[in-house]
Amino acid sequence: MKKDLLSIDDLTTDEILLVLDTAEAMREIGQRPIKKVPTLRGKTIVNLFYEPSTRTRTSFEIAEKRLSADTLNIAVATSSVLKGETLVDTAMNLEAMAPDMIVMRHASSGAAHLLSRVCRSRIINAGDGMHEHPTQALLDAFTIREHKKRIDGLKVAIVGDLLHSRVLRSNVLLLTRLGADVWVSGPPTFTPHGIERFGVHVSPRIDQAVADADVIMMLRIQQERLNGAFIPSLREYFTTFGMTGDRIARAKPDVIIMHPGPMNRGVEIASDVADGPYSVILEQVANGVAVRMAVLYLLAGGAEAD
Ligand code: CP
Repeated sequence: MKKDLLSIDDLTTDEILLVLDTAEAMREIGQRPIKKVPTLRGKTIVNLFYEPSTRTRTSFEIAEKRLSADTLNIAVATSSVLKGETLVDTAMNLEAMAPDMIVMRHASSGAAHLLSRVCRSRIINAGDGMHEHPTQALLDAFTIREHKKRIDGLKVAIVGDLLHSRVLRSNVLLLTRLGADVWVSGPPTFTPHGIERFGVHVSPRIDQAVADADVIMMLRIQQERLNGAFIPSLREYFTTFGMTGDRIARAKPDVIIMHPGPMNRGVEIASDVADGPYSVILEQVANGVAVRMAVLYLLAGGAEAD
């Protein structure tokens, strides 16, 4: 694999499949009484999160500890970032202490690419602005493959705030590469111009997008990124685009419902759907640990790191 993981485009199709296959083996480690292997002993990994995170930060830290890496969490709220230090200066100061990898989340699209240019350490993009969230797409693909035993030929409907979603971008790149028939649906104000050029079907009618779907992936309304009037009201949004039992009935009988989290219950997804029999949302979270273990292991050199 390349030095860094910044985008799904950094991975060949064979490398994507290698990550998914390696994650199968990594999941087995998490089922042992002692959930630890010495693979990354002596490696130092810095988790640098400039934006809030529950799932990604925690699962990277658990993955690092299961592989015996030395981990360090930089809490931006208590760092010199608050005194005006730039991202590059922060990164160069961390570099001076010779970490092996930096896992970074940042509100600006392209921030991980900037770090990649100035750092010797390996950089893993844990979400950059509205751009990409590659490990989320990998864990989503792992979860889909686990349930459906394939990705090629599946109808995957991705519904919600398409415009602001880094999860959408990474999933579209990954799922189309693996042969899925990807449909996207959202209000016109949430639909990026020209998105069909990425090889997806676009429908403003959710019922068309979810008809006979094998997988429905709901996206969060990103209230923190809404600077303008994109939707008349959250109540109307739920009526038009919210995932309900009635809408699930249009999909395949064995459809799975996914959501990257955090969820806005009653906005993009009804509570009974989020907690219902079709939901694999907590499985996605569990699979995040195995997939991030696989990414860390492979970036560290795979078998050569053993
Ligand atoms: N899916 C995801 O990125 O969740 P967090 O923001 O909690 O990390």
